[in-house]
Amino acid sequence: MPEDDGYFDERVAARYDESSAEMFAPAAVDPVVDFLVELAGSGRALELGIGTGRIALPLARRGVSVHGIELSNAMVARLRAKPGGDDIGVTIGDFATTTVDGTFSVAYLVFNTISNLTTQAAQVACFRNVAAHLELEGCFVIEVGVPELQRLSPGETIRAFHVSETSWGLDEYDVARQGLTSHHFEIVDGGLERLSIPFRYTWPSELDLMAQLAGMRLRERWSGWKREPFTSDSRKHVSVWENRQPRR
Ligand SMILES: C[S@@+](CC[C@H](N)C(=O)[O-])C[C@H]1O[C@@H](n2cnc3c(N)ncnc32)[C@H](O)[C@@H]1O
Repeated sequence: MPEDDGYFDERVAARYDESSAEMFAPAAVDPVVDFLVELAGSGRALELGIGTGRIALPLARRGVSVHGIELSNAMVARLRAKPGGDDIGVTIGDFATTTVDGTFSVAYLVFNTISNLTTQAAQVACFRNVAAHLELEGCFVIEVGVPELQRLSPGETIRAFHVSETSWGLDEYDVARQGLTSHHFEIVDGGLERLSIPFRYTWPSELDLMAQLAGMRLRERWSGWKREPFTSDSRKHVSVWENRQPRR
């Protein structure tokens, strides 16, 4: 069971950057930052689940004022230890419900993190929370995988998403409740470590409906940060919803 820091506790935070090294490479980060700089314009950016600052730090270096919401003190400690990490405001809390001062021209939730909210109610609350922080016509950006149900053989519930000499990843589907548990196994210092994290997967259309409930509408949907077309074969989507509600 997660402690106060959730699943990204001290043990996970200590190895997060190393274990997600591909996602920290300039080839992965630069297109995200370019995309968000454009949407931020002269306004502020709000990152939900800011983690160790993979995107927030380079975005701030491009001159955008970034604020984060994050559950895990251990992840934020890693952000703080990096150059520029002390200059980024972070509010500790659940991004489905935590509020921060001021308004934002863009809010973003990347690297499948919307799926860390494991109920539909929490995901809907997240959209509503974001809308309450956005300026009129401000944007909410989500990067998340398309559920891989087409890749499951009939009756199967487990799919391997990573296999190497020293680590293995298995996704376990619970189709009845739109649940997905990612099991990570890794050999560390000669022993086998296991981490299992629950997710709730969503189809793009369900996220569009959540946006609608929150007073937002779809503006763009791509399969990647360089605005590659979203098609039936796309493995993930980058979606942008625009806030249509004037602030009261
Ligand atoms: C996959 S990591 C992504 C971190 C960072 N955005 C990145 O792209 O590297 C997910 C992050 O979201 C945080 N998180 C997950 N659920 C959360 C919630 N309900 N409220 C706040 N933070 C949450 C985790 O603690 C973790 O730091």
